[in-house]
Amino acid sequence: MEANTERKPVIFSAIQPSGTITLGNYLGALKNWVSLQDEYDCIFSLADLHTITVRQEPAKFRKNTLEAYALLLACGIDPEKSIFFIQSHVSAHAELAWVLNCYTQFGELSRMTQFKDKAAKHADNVNAGLFAYPSLMAADILLYQADLVPVGADQKQHLELTRNIAERFNSAYSPTFTVPDGYIPKQGARVMSLQDPSRKMSKSDENANGYVALLDPPEVVMKKFKRAVTDSDACVKYAEGKDGVNNLMGIYACVTGKSYEEIEQEFQGRGYGDFKTAVGEAVVEHLRPIQERFQKYIADKAYLEQCYRNGAERAGRIAGRTLAKVMKKIGFLPAR
Ligand code: TYM
Repeated sequence: MEANTERKPVIFSAIQPSGTITLGNYLGALKNWVSLQDEYDCIFSLADLHTITVRQEPAKFRKNTLEAYALLLACGIDPEKSIFFIQSHVSAHAELAWVLNCYTQFGELSRMTQFKDKAAKHADNVNAGLFAYPSLMAADILLYQADLVPVGADQKQHLELTRNIAERFNSAYSPTFTVPDGYIPKQGARVMSLQDPSRKMSKSDENANGYVALLDPPEVVMKKFKRAVTDSDACVKYAEGKDGVNNLMGIYACVTGKSYEEIEQEFQGRGYGDFKTAVGEAVVEHLRPIQERFQKYIADKAYLEQCYRNGAERAGRIAGRTLAKVMKKIGFLPAR
């Protein structure tokens, strides 16, 4: 990593504003973003350019983007402390992504497991954007000279590719990009589906009982936890082969701050019914203030607009500097 002695370490991360933001997104990423804001210079983005790799209905896409912006504010992203903007509002992302495409190999992109999964899922629309998605993600991160990128475990492979692209560019020219490290939480990095605990919780799950959306009403959250798949042991214990229970324990630990030992003690001699109800209630209580704040933010369009415009201006200044450096090093003839 390039030395960074004069400034606070820089954090960059992003989330796609597709319809539903899940408890997996929250525990794997958003919750950590909020708590990192005091110690680091944080830059957060809604990665809407990434979202169009899957076809979007225009009016719904616009609505989802604004709602995701309001929801992240409600989660605790503070636009006074952090830069919080919408990716498509800063054109340097698309520009650097093109440049980085030319420094990324076909073979590297072909190995990305997320590409393989998504290509299988959307077999009728395996577009070039879906394939080149990781170089756009690399551009997002590298534009801000980020030191750390807080993400869930599913983004690890994309981060490694980002590091490779940065190192390749730096050695082809001269140090240009900070080579970022991932910041993957110990707990919550991989929240699993409540219906199939061998798969990660995903907003694109066809079975809505598999995921909890941050805006699910309390009775829906409770119903989903009560239906969560466990096992036939009837023993609340973190152990190999108990994926369903392990997942619920992980969620409970994240929202209550309790350790696994404390949870095992709390539910000793009690059945899964009690346990699932307790997890559901703890999640409902954790989400309640977020949902209340969301209603307040989404009702204030003028404030949202002021925040995202300001965010784009601040992000644009930083991104523009990096992009100019890159263009100059490559040898593009300056426009002026
Ligand atoms: P996205 O929108 O799919 O997810 C946003 C964040 O949520 C994490 N996450 C999870 N964590 C734990 N358990 C789960 N079940 C779970 N599901 C999702 C993801 O790891 C991610 O941190 N390509 C990215 C967005 C992106 C980005 C970036 C991230 C675009 N540019 C630059 C970091 C840096 C994505 O689609 O995340």
